[in-house]
Amino acid sequence: MSESAILTKGAVALVTGASAGIGRAVARALSTRGVRVICAARRIERLRALVGELEAPALAFEFDIADGEAADELLSRLPEDWRAIDILINNAGHDLGGRRAFHKQAGEDMAATIQTNVTGLMRTTLAILPGMRERGRGHIVNMGSSSGLEWTANHSVYVASKFAVHGFTNSLRQELQGSGVRLTEILPGLVRTEFAAARWRGDEERAEKFYDKFDAALSPEDVADAVMYTLETPAHVSICDLVLRPA
Ligand SMILES: NC(=O)c1ccc[n+]([C@@H]2O[C@H](COP(=O)([O-])OP(=O)(O)OC[C@H]3O[C@@H](n4cnc5c(N)ncnc54)[C@H](OP(=O)(O)O)[C@@H]3O)[C@@H](O)[C@H]2O)c1
Repeated sequence: MSESAILTKGAVALVTGASAGIGRAVARALSTRGVRVICAARRIERLRALVGELEAPALAFEFDIADGEAADELLSRLPEDWRAIDILINNAGHDLGGRRAFHKQAGEDMAATIQTNVTGLMRTTLAILPGMRERGRGHIVNMGSSSGLEWTANHSVYVASKFAVHGFTNSLRQELQGSGVRLTEILPGLVRTEFAAARWRGDEERAEKFYDKFDAALSPEDVADAVMYTLETPAHVSICDLVLRPA
């Protein structure tokens, strides 16, 4: 394989949702390759702890992707030498109040899920993509889900959010043809993270019971490995969708 165009020492990556689960695993994996990682999420203390353990220079960046203004001001809030972002990992997401019949869903949880998983992802992309296009260089990885390909009952809001990510990603990829910017969607099945606890507002016992019902689950590191694989490919290769499921 010829050398990756993007995964180089000193490249800059922004990882949203780096305070837990998949995002944290991706930040660690990038850092081992010498990538300078901007670790973004709402829980700044967790980000500081992560940055303290990373091998390459890294930044803890408090960022609520559901806050439109924060997304619009993203670049201006970063130190100047961290603004030329080469790799964007659009990973932050949740399923707050989910796994219940739609008519029992709280309206504000529904809105927060869409605001984060869909609008937040798009707005973050909107802040970063113009610079990538200008430089003719970049790789965006959107964290979709197998829930963006198939539907199940009692999961409608989250499913809708991930179908939106899937549609957005595929449409935008067509616009990026020839721009030097690649766009990959990773679509994992079940991953054992803090995702279920976040859904149930920190009820870890319930979350553990939920994961224990399944025969197998992916780990955050499994997903991070897949992300690294897509970033490692030579510039003329575009991995469009990568679906991962527990075997
Ligand atoms: N776990 C699964 O089974 C699974 C399967 C397929 C896809 N996914 C997708 O993978 C992604 C990561 O999930 P995970 O499993 O790693 O869950 P997780 O362990 O709960 O981590 C979620 C991350 O998203 C961040 N986040 C949530 N809302 C945010 C906001 N408004 N602004 C900024 N950051 C926010 C959280 O940080 P703060 O709370 O500190 O802000 C946290 O770092 C999500 O997009 C999820 O939909 C998960």
